[in-house]
Amino acid sequence: MCGIVGYVGSRNSSDVLVEGLRRLEYRGYDSCGIASVKAKGGLYLKRVSGRIEALKGLVEADPPKDPGAGIGHTRWATHGVPSEDNAHPHTDCAGELVLVHNGIIENYLELREKLAGSGHAFKSETDTEAAVHLLERNVKELSARSSSGMLEPVFFEAFRRTLAELKGSFAIAAVWDKCPGVVMTARMHSPLVLGLGEGENFVASDVSAFLKFTRRAVFLNDGDIAAVRAGGAEFFDFAGRKARRDSVNIQWDSTMAEKGGYRHFMLKEIHEQAASVENTLRGRLLPLKEDTLAREINLDPAVLRSVKTVQFIACGTAYHAGLVGKYALENFQVPAHADLASEYSDRSKLAGPDTLAVAISQSGETADTIHAVREAKAAGARVLAVTNTVGSTLTREADWVLYTHCGPEIGVASTKAFVGQLAAIYVLAAHFAAARKAVFDSDARAFAAELLKVPRLIEDALAMEKEIEALAKRYADREHFLFIARHINYPIALEGALKIKEISYVHAEGYAAGEMKHGPIAIIDKGMPVLAVATSSRALKLMAGNMQEAGARGAEVVAIVDKESRGQVRASRYIEVPQAPEILSPLVNVIPLQLFSYYSALARGCDIDKPRNLAKSVTVR
Ligand code: M6R
Repeated sequence: MCGIVGYVGSRNSSDVLVEGLRRLEYRGYDSCGIASVKAKGGLYLKRVSGRIEALKGLVEADPPKDPGAGIGHTRWATHGVPSEDNAHPHTDCAGELVLVHNGIIENYLELREKLAGSGHAFKSETDTEAAVHLLERNVKELSARSSSGMLEPVFFEAFRRTLAELKGSFAIAAVWDKCPGVVMTARMHSPLVLGLGEGENFVASDVSAFLKFTRRAVFLNDGDIAAVRAGGAEFFDFAGRKARRDSVNIQWDSTMAEKGGYRHFMLKEIHEQAASVENTLRGRLLPLKEDTLAREINLDPAVLRSVKTVQFIACGTAYHAGLVGKYALENFQVPAHADLASEYSDRSKLAGPDTLAVAISQSGETADTIHAVREAKAAGARVLAVTNTVGSTLTREADWVLYTHCGPEIGVASTKAFVGQLAAIYVLAAHFAAARKAVFDSDARAFAAELLKVPRLIEDALAMEKEIEALAKRYADREHFLFIARHINYPIALEGALKIKEISYVHAEGYAAGEMKHGPIAIIDKGMPVLAVATSSRALKLMAGNMQEAGARGAEVVAIVDKESRGQVRASRYIEVPQAPEILSPLVNVIPLQLFSYYSALARGCDIDKPRNLAKSVTVR
């Protein structure tokens, strides 16, 4: 959680840092700040409790005079309430050293007690502040012993020693006003990437912070330190040994992360979904050949043949994609389970060398998912990552990576990444089918052909936007919603409920329609909106019965139907989506539910792209 940035170069660092933080605001947004060292000594520091816009105003009102290297931070509170005192960057006692941190320092209480005991004055409730005081102590000790008078080696060694004493997860960047030309930065279990420019260099939690300036990036590994100067970066391990790190070129450009005329990123991303699915499918299905994934990601068909169980592991929306994956793979006789990464521990005992763990994560940085992946690997399972983020931690832990290629997703509520994850899972299902000959070849090919038609169906589903906006307005004053569905659309009911909860702050539940009568039906009373996914399926008759049961108890049933199913279910209102094969229908049925939650949140005046209490990427467990 949290976003960090750093800059060394000839531009005004405060502008670059604020702009970088604006791009990272999705990672946390309860407070923020920047600091830079002045070329002639001294520190410039601005922090606010609130959003980047407020920080920008503060910086514009009192800009730095001669800014050198700088760092910045946008926070999602873990230790200490959101406040200016707890906002990063944090400073040492003398106000000479300054540091930002993403992650959790687990031994901070112990460090704090020790440092406070030796006279360090703490000003915040954060775990991070212990690190800057530790750095101060190390700088003092080493400066006293240094005979050369050269300050940068002192700064580096003090930084390195500080890291050695920290336990937990961190991406850290620090500057010292005695060394105005360098940012020291390091990574352990939290994302960190450098952007390499011409005569300037950048540090960030994610590439979107610097894409406007450069697309050349170096992803740091756990245990890496980088000393970043305007002229280049040097890499070391935590023991201080020099290391070599190669750069990669990022395909995304900064305009992909702009709103492009839409009112919110979420709406833009909803509208990008046909393209997202197209990008995920591209080159993977046509023609459907046994060795396609072997050529692209080195995943041999022999692996797909030998796997006995697939375990999908993920959180939140990505977990819902995993649940759809379970139904999809079972359709091709591949035994599969879906697990919440945060609940995976005991399930890893069931994993072994013939298990394929499929970890799904938009960011590739979700701490629960990464931890579960490590447990799966320790149990002997092989891991396939389905992710949108090149260079993320997950990609480095997995044996194979299937990228979703959806482009940057900025809205906290996941939409286009979700359909990309579904598309990737269907690709996997098609290749399982082809490799195992579990179905006749022609069936696997027919499935692939249907999958390739989905982007068009998504476009058609998006055309219902106005109708759904009106529906959302109608129910904008309701505080309780139910979403019901069966089988492969059951995860879509869960997703519909999650979406409206997270951005509209209303109570919503997703339920397997057949389970309603075992308890939840008791909550239905007059006028309660029940959104029922009732497109053509083998379970449609049962679904129709469940909708009747809800209607009979006063619910206003809104049915998501297709042409074929419309006449077979009774509802107060209908939303007709394009006809899709049952197995692929989640890709289409989720669209009206996303739009419904978007327009509900809009009608309720909620902060859609940055819902309260949330962050886009959850890097704490
Ligand atoms: O980056 P990830 O896909 O691993 O994120 C997992 C969840 O935190 C995420 O899907 C979350 O549930 C979304 N905000 C839902 O819209």
